[in-house]
Amino acid sequence: MYQIAENKSLELEIINHKTLNVQRSIQELSALYKSIFSEPPYNEDFDMDELITSFTKQLESNTIILLKVSNLTQGFILLEHGYNCHVLSETITEELNNIDFDIKNSIYIADIGVSKNMRGRGFGKSLMTYIITKYGSKNPLYLRTGKFNNDKTILFYEKLGFDNVNIEEDVENLRTDGTISDDKRIYMIREMDNHINSVT
Ligand SMILES: CC(C)(COP(=O)(O)OP(=O)(O)OC[C@H]1O[C@@H](n2cnc3c(N)ncnc32)[C@H](O)[C@@H]1OP(=O)(O)O)[C@@H](O)C(=O)NCCC(=O)NCCS
Repeated sequence: MYQIAENKSLELEIINHKTLNVQRSIQELSALYKSIFSEPPYNEDFDMDELITSFTKQLESNTIILLKVSNLTQGFILLEHGYNCHVLSETITEELNNIDFDIKNSIYIADIGVSKNMRGRGFGKSLMTYIITKYGSKNPLYLRTGKFNNDKTILFYEKLGFDNVNIEEDVENLRTDGTISDDKRIYMIREMDNHINSVT
């Protein structure tokens, strides 16, 4: 457990198969994920059982970190390591190689979310700062974010040292109104910090 600031009720928990009550954590993560991404601008539709199955599988090779407030899951950050990253199509791999991005050592931030009523209190930044402190001097980081978020989420990542590298992709999703539509995603990368000052 990693405690945020002085508040003893806030913790970051890296979960794995052996974590106590892991099924409860996966249930809470799935419910939170579904509620966050069913809201605008995403309006994505997810089946709870499929999410639970998918997150349980992800525990095998990816890193799932939960933000717990008084033991309840109120946020998450999901990481994928190196070539074990679901967005690495042939095209994206080639485009990242073209800018000399070190995919092998990279960490992909697959998703970050904070429950709606907890936003604006620094939790998202704490989740990101934890990842940057832990990995930022050893691994280049990257992520994909929606262009429809206009500048807000992009600005959030820019403040944390991520740059838009002008790699774009259309991603097809099932929406809450039953339709299927594309949205534009952009890639942002954060090169390794020069200093060797990581938390292990
Ligand atoms: C993006 C998200 C995780 C940010 O979490 P948060 O806890 O609200 O963010 P914080 O309170 O830590 O804010 C960190 C900084 O980003 C800024 N910021 C965060 N979200 C912002 C927004 N929507 N608009 C403007 N600024 C924003 C804050 O002002 C703050 O700036 P500061 O460091 O200069 O004070 C949260 O808004 C969220 O879950 N959104 C829905 C899911 C999502 O879009 N995820 C990203 C998918 S790519």
